[in-house]
Amino acid sequence: MLEEIKKPKRYTITSALPYANGPVHIGHLAGVYIPADIYARYLRSNNEDVLFIGGSDEHGVPITIKAKQEGVSPQQIVDKYHNIIKESFKDFGITFDVYSRTSAKIHHETASEFFTNLYEKGEFIEKVSAQYYDEENNQFLADRYITGTCPHCNNEKAYGDQCESCGTSLNATDLINPKSVLSGNEPILKETKHWFLQLDKYEPWLKKWILEDHKEWKANVYGQCKSWLDQGLQPRAVTRDLDWGVNVPLKGAEGKVLYVWFDAPIGYISASKEWAKETGKDWEVYWKDKESKLVHFIGKDNIVFHCIVFPSMLHAEGSYILPENVPANEFLNLESDKISTSRNWAVWLHEYLVDFPEKQDVLRYVLTANAPETKDNDFTWKDFQLKNNSELVAIFGNFVNRTMVLTQKYWNGKVPEISTLTDIDNAVIKDIAEFPSRIGKSIENYRFREALSELMNLARLGNKYLAENEPWKLIKTDEERVKTILNISIQIVANLAIECRPFLPFSSDKLFKMLNFNETEWKKSGKIDLIPAGSQLGEAFLLFEQIEDDAINLQIAKLLNTKKLNDEKTVEVASAKSNISFDEFAKMDIRIGKIITAEKVAKTKKLLKLTIDTGIDKRTVVSGIAEYYEPENIIGKRVSILVNLEPKEIKGIMSQGMILMAENSKGELCFVSPTNEFNEGSCVK
Ligand code: 2FM
Ligand code: ZN
Repeated sequence: MLEEIKKPKRYTITSALPYANGPVHIGHLAGVYIPADIYARYLRSNNEDVLFIGGSDEHGVPITIKAKQEGVSPQQIVDKYHNIIKESFKDFGITFDVYSRTSAKIHHETASEFFTNLYEKGEFIEKVSAQYYDEENNQFLADRYITGTCPHCNNEKAYGDQCESCGTSLNATDLINPKSVLSGNEPILKETKHWFLQLDKYEPWLKKWILEDHKEWKANVYGQCKSWLDQGLQPRAVTRDLDWGVNVPLKGAEGKVLYVWFDAPIGYISASKEWAKETGKDWEVYWKDKESKLVHFIGKDNIVFHCIVFPSMLHAEGSYILPENVPANEFLNLESDKISTSRNWAVWLHEYLVDFPEKQDVLRYVLTANAPETKDNDFTWKDFQLKNNSELVAIFGNFVNRTMVLTQKYWNGKVPEISTLTDIDNAVIKDIAEFPSRIGKSIENYRFREALSELMNLARLGNKYLAENEPWKLIKTDEERVKTILNISIQIVANLAIECRPFLPFSSDKLFKMLNFNETEWKKSGKIDLIPAGSQLGEAFLLFEQIEDDAINLQIAKLLNTKKLNDEKTVEVASAKSNISFDEFAKMDIRIGKIITAEKVAKTKKLLKLTIDTGIDKRTVVSGIAEYYEPENIIGKRVSILVNLEPKEIKGIMSQGMILMAENSKGELCFVSPTNEFNEGSCVK
C-alpha cells in the first residue's frame, strides 16, 4: 500500500541571505526571492503556518574588500547595503516574516554556540596547513584576497575559492601565479591552524539522504549534488584568518573567524530566534519538530552549501530537521550577458522603481514568466515590454476592464443576478473550478512559471467567454442573458484577485479595491459565488498600462552606456613578468616573414595553417588567429615570427615557429608587423 504523505504542520522557508556589499538586482529577485515569496504567500492563503526567513549576509571577504576599496569599515558597508536591500525587498512585496542580518549579536551568539557544540562533540579535525600570506600586509589571504590563473580554464582572474569563469570550486593553492589582492605581490606559504568539518565522514550518509531519499529534487540540484558526491568529499575548513566575522570561540584562535559559509546558513536560525523574540512565538518547532517542512530557496551557486555542507552541520548537531527540498534556480542573464555587480551590468531594484514607479508587479510577472527554473534565462527590455503590453495589458487587464466597464455602464456597477445557466456557462463554471488546484499543484512542486501561465489561462478564459457571448450586442435583445454573463465575468475577476495574489500582490490589492471585495483564502476560489448579486462594485481603473518604446529605449541606452564605460575601463595591463638576462633574450631568433598562403584548419575554430616566407626558408606555421583574420585577407602580410621555436605537431600538422601577436585585455589578437616595407628575413632584436 502506498504510504500516505503526511501534510506538514508548519513550513520553514528560507531564502539565501544576499551579501550586503551591494544593492539587489533582478537576478536576485528572479532566482530566489520571487519564487520564495510566491510559495510563502500561497501557503499562507491556505492558512498554513509559515515562517519565511530572509536577512543580509554580512561577513566574508567580499565585504572586507569593498570596505577597503571605499576606505570605510566593514560595518559601515553592511549598514549601508543592509538598509538598501531590506527596503528593496519591502518595495517589491517580499513578505519575509523576519529580515535579519548576520552582524547582529544574536547571530554571533548562535553561530558561536553552534560551532562550540560541534567542537565539543568532536566533529571537527584540527589541522595545521600552509596558507598564503601577504608579507607586506602581515595578513593571511583567505578566499577572495588571492587571485591567479585557474588551473581548469586558464582564466587569469580566478579567486582563491572559486573560478567565476568556469565555476569550479578551488583552493587558493590550486591557483597558478597567485597574487595578493592587497599588495599585488606573490604571497608566501605560512603555516596556520584551522578546524575542518569532516564531509568525508558524512559522505555515506549524504549519499543515501540525497541520492536515494531525494530523487524528487530538481534535476539541476540533484545532478550537482551527485557530481560532488561522485567525486568524493574532503574535509572542509570552517575557519579563516580574518578580522571580520564571528570569532572562533576557542582558546588560541585569536585573529580567526568562522568561514562565512559556516556562519551564513546559521543566520536562518538566528533570524528565527529574532522573530520569536519579537512575536513571542517558539522558533524551535520550526527547526526541530519533524512535522515542520524546511525548504531552502537559493541560486545554483549555493547548491553545495545548502545540500551538502549545511545539512552535514545540522546532521552532526543532531537536533535539527533537514531540508525537504532545495529548489535552486539557474541564473538570469541580462541582454545576453552575465549579470555582474562589479561591472554594473544589472537592473537594480531601487533604480527600476524610480524609472517605473508602482510597476512592481510588471517586473514580478516578467521575472516569474522567465524564471531560470531549469536553465539560465535571459532578461531583455524588449521582452519586458512585450510581456507587459501583450499579456498583462492585452489579456489580464483587458478582461478586467471590459467586465468592470460593462457592469458600470449597464447596471451602475451593481452586480447583476444570474438567471438561467446555459451549457456554455456551465462549461465555463466547470473550468473555473479547476484553476485553484492546478495553479496550487504547480506552486507546491516549485514550478512557478507553469503556475503563472495557468493563472493567465484563467484571464484568457474570461476574455474568450466575453468575446463569444458579446454582451454588448445582446444588451439590446436579451438583458437577462447579459446579467448572467456579467455576473459570471465578475466572479472570474474575483477568482483572479485571489489566485493572482501570490504572484501579483499589488494588482490583487487593486482588484480587491475595484471589486469592493476582500477574500484571500485560496480555497474560496474556484467558485462563482464570491461576490453576491446586488453588491456595489468600486470604481473601475486600469490595472496595467501600456509601456511605450521611449521608456524601453531609455533603459537600453542606459545599458549601452554601461557597456561603453566598461570597455573603457577594461584597458587593463597584464602584470609584469620577472626579469630575464640579455643572453636569454638573445637566444630567440625573431624574423620578419611574409604570409604566402593561409587556410582554415579543418574542425577547429581558432586555427589557421599558414605558409611563411621567412627569408631563410618557406615553412608551415599553425597559428590560433582564425577568430581575428580571414585567410584571404592576410596573404602578403608581413609579420614577426619566432623561427627557432621547437617544431610542434598541432592537429596533425607540423608547425615550425610562432607568429608573434599582440593581445589586448579582451584577449583579442593582432599581428606585430613592421611599419616600413622591410624584407623577409630581417631580424627583430
Ligand atoms: O551567494 C550569496 O549571495 C550568499 N551570501 C548566500 C548565503 S545563503 C545562506 F547561507 F545564508
Ligand atoms: Zn576556471
